[in-house]
Amino acid sequence: MDRNIPASRILGTGHYLPSQVLTNDDLARRVDTSDEWIRSRTGIGQRHIAAPEEASSDMAAAASRLALEAAGLSPNDLDAIIVGTISPDKRMPACAVYLQQKLGVTNNCPSFDLSAACAGFIYGLGVADAFIRASQSRYVLVVGVELLSRVIDWQDRATCVLFGDGAGAAVLGPSDGDGRGIVSTHLYSDGSKANDLHIPGGGTLMPFSAEVLERREYYVRMNGQEVFKYAVRAISRAAGTAIESNGLTPNDIDWVMPHQANKRILDGVRQRCGVPKERFFINIEETANTSSASVPIVLDQAVRSGHVRRGQNLVFCALGGGFSWGSALVRW
Ligand code: UT7
Repeated sequence: MDRNIPASRILGTGHYLPSQVLTNDDLARRVDTSDEWIRSRTGIGQRHIAAPEEASSDMAAAASRLALEAAGLSPNDLDAIIVGTISPDKRMPACAVYLQQKLGVTNNCPSFDLSAACAGFIYGLGVADAFIRASQSRYVLVVGVELLSRVIDWQDRATCVLFGDGAGAAVLGPSDGDGRGIVSTHLYSDGSKANDLHIPGGGTLMPFSAEVLERREYYVRMNGQEVFKYAVRAISRAAGTAIESNGLTPNDIDWVMPHQANKRILDGVRQRCGVPKERFFINIEETANTSSASVPIVLDQAVRSGHVRRGQNLVFCALGGGFSWGSALVRW
C-alpha cells in the first residue's frame, strides 16, 4: 500500500540467537560439503542452532522481552501479537499463543501466526500497521522466528548448509505525526511457484505416515536455482517500489536491510536496485539464513550498534516460500 503519512512506528526492537554455533567445518564432518563451497556459493560461515530444550516460542520470547524493554512497555500493554514463522512449536495452536503465555500477557489480546516464510516479518509489519491505522490496536508485537534446524534435512547438502535458527522482534505503536514510522509496505505472492520451496508432507495433502517419514518428505525441499533467479528479480523490484512509490531515489536510502537469503542473491539485488553497496546491512556470514527472523535480527543489530539514526530511511525486503515477498519503507 502506498502512503506518505505514517500511522505507526517501531518503538523498540530485539533479537535472539542461540549460543550454539555450527561452523561450516563442523557441518562438513556431517555431510559431503566444504567451507570453501559454502562460502563461495552463499557467503555463509556459520549458523546458530537451538538447544534441544528450546522451542521457537522461547526464542521469540527472548527477542520480544528486549523489544518491549527498548519500547518502554510492559507485556500487558500489547494489543496484538503477530508471529511470522514456518517452524512453530506445534501445528496447532499458533506459536503466538505460546509466546503470549511466556511473556505473561494476560489481557486476551489476539495472537496469531502468519505463514509467509522468509517474508513473514514484513507481512507482519504490514498487518500491524493496518491494525494501528484502523485503530484496532495501539501496540502490536511483530516477531519473525525460525527453528529451521528441526525442519531441514541434515542429509540434503543443498539445503542444510543454508539455514540457521534465531528470532527478531519489533514493537509497533502509533506514530508521533512527525513523518517518522512505517511509510509503506508492499506485499506479493506467486502461487505458481508454491512447490519450488515447500515442506511436502505433514499437512492435509500428505498427512504423516510411515511412507512420508521414510521418504523424508516432512523436511524443507527447495529448487535452489529457481529460488535464486526469482529472488534477485523480485526482491530488487520490491525494494525499487518501496523507494519510487514514496518519491525517493536510491541515494535517499540510508540502509537496506534485506532478508539474508544468500550473499550472491544480495549482490544481485545490490546491482539492480542502485543503492550503494556500503548501505546494505549484511550479517549472513555469522547468522546464515534465518528466514522470517533475518530482517528483524539485522534491524536490531543495526539499531543497537548505533548505525541507525533518527530520520534515516530504511528499506526492508525479503522473498521466500510461496513465493511470497515484499518490502517496507521505514523512516526511523
Ligand atoms: O530464503 C530463500 C531460501 N533459499 C535460497 O536463498 C536459495 C537460493 N539458491 C541458492 O542459494 C543456490 O541454488 C544453492 C546455494 C542452494 C545451490 O547452489 P547452486 O550453484 O545452485 O548449486 P547446484 O544446485 O546447481 O549444484 C551444483 C553442484 C552439484 O554438483 P554436480 O551435480 O554439479 O556434480 C551439487 O550436487 O554443487 C553440488 N552441491 C554441493 N557441493 C558441495 C550442492 N550442494 C552442495 C554442498 N556442498 N553443500
